[in-house]
Amino acid sequence: MSRLKTIEWTDNSVRIINQTKLPTELIYEQIDTVEQMYHAIKILKVRGAPAIGIAAAFGVYLAIRNFPESGTATDFMTILEKNADYLSESRPTAVNLFWAIRRMKDTARKLIEAGKTIIDIKQELLNEAICVLEEDRQTGRLIGEAGVKLLGNRRTILTHCNAGGLATAEYGTALAPIYVGAERGLRFHVYADETRPLLQGARITAFELKQAGIPVTLICDNMAATVMARGLVEAVIVGADRITANGDTANKIGTYGVALLAKAHNIPFYVAAPFSTFDMSMKTGSQIPIEERDDTEVSCGFGKQTAPSGVNIFNPAFDVTPAHLITAFITDKGVIYPPFDQNLKCMQ
Ligand code: MRU
Repeated sequence: MSRLKTIEWTDNSVRIINQTKLPTELIYEQIDTVEQMYHAIKILKVRGAPAIGIAAAFGVYLAIRNFPESGTATDFMTILEKNADYLSESRPTAVNLFWAIRRMKDTARKLIEAGKTIIDIKQELLNEAICVLEEDRQTGRLIGEAGVKLLGNRRTILTHCNAGGLATAEYGTALAPIYVGAERGLRFHVYADETRPLLQGARITAFELKQAGIPVTLICDNMAATVMARGLVEAVIVGADRITANGDTANKIGTYGVALLAKAHNIPFYVAAPFSTFDMSMKTGSQIPIEERDDTEVSCGFGKQTAPSGVNIFNPAFDVTPAHLITAFITDKGVIYPPFDQNLKCMQ
């Protein structure tokens, strides 16, 4: 199965799919500067927690790639850290962004301590960013393997937002079991919530599943209850932007509602995520910073005014699903069941 290349290193540049143009235009864009990368993350040209992490890792490299070979290690680190802070301001909720930036900073520090030359350090940082990308590809595959096994004979899956290949390097997280299963000839059917206000479910999940030849039915967010009540969904799988030590999970706004609906209909609710999405420094979901985005996303979505001018608007981009609503986590290290606070600690 050939998959879309969400983000890749090619011709000495980062190449991304500009996801703001989907589904009508599949446009690849070249990113050559840290400022371009910041902007691409901020306006969701590249989005989804793991993909944001990969983009940030390359962003750190782009920030230092023109640093002069004759410069000092101290100046190098000052520039790297300044740009790492700048990239950290692009989006607040997905912990993968901060995880990848820290990884790049730690790598640079170790190389400096080891007395490497600037030219070597720059090359090693590029290798590290490529490694973040390659690891994510493998991680997605592992999540997919674990998920297929966990699903058993269940074939009708509901998902929210986009946690597929376009949110990661290749397989996705929530959609990874579907893709791995499809490679083995299993025929899944996915119900995709459209995901107001930015429609990642309609524009991106429906698009990538259709491209992959996987049956998908698009529903408005307010139809999930009906689909569940009619017995059309055997499991829910969503991705995650940050999971705290007790298992509380931040994901796209609306996920919490889907989890409540799944509970009411006795449908298992799974969260699929790599270990880079777990933030063990936070005890509970109440500590997670929730991004609030521009009012116009709600009142004037995609350029069409749908609300009276001047009306008050609340537009949080994520919500937190409490751990007790989650049946299990599907991770690259296997499936994790409750009690999450204990079982997550054992996995570290
Ligand atoms: O605002 P977005 O499009 O970056 O939000 C994406 C999500 O919430 C995804 O569900 C999440 O990042 C999981 S990605 C594998």
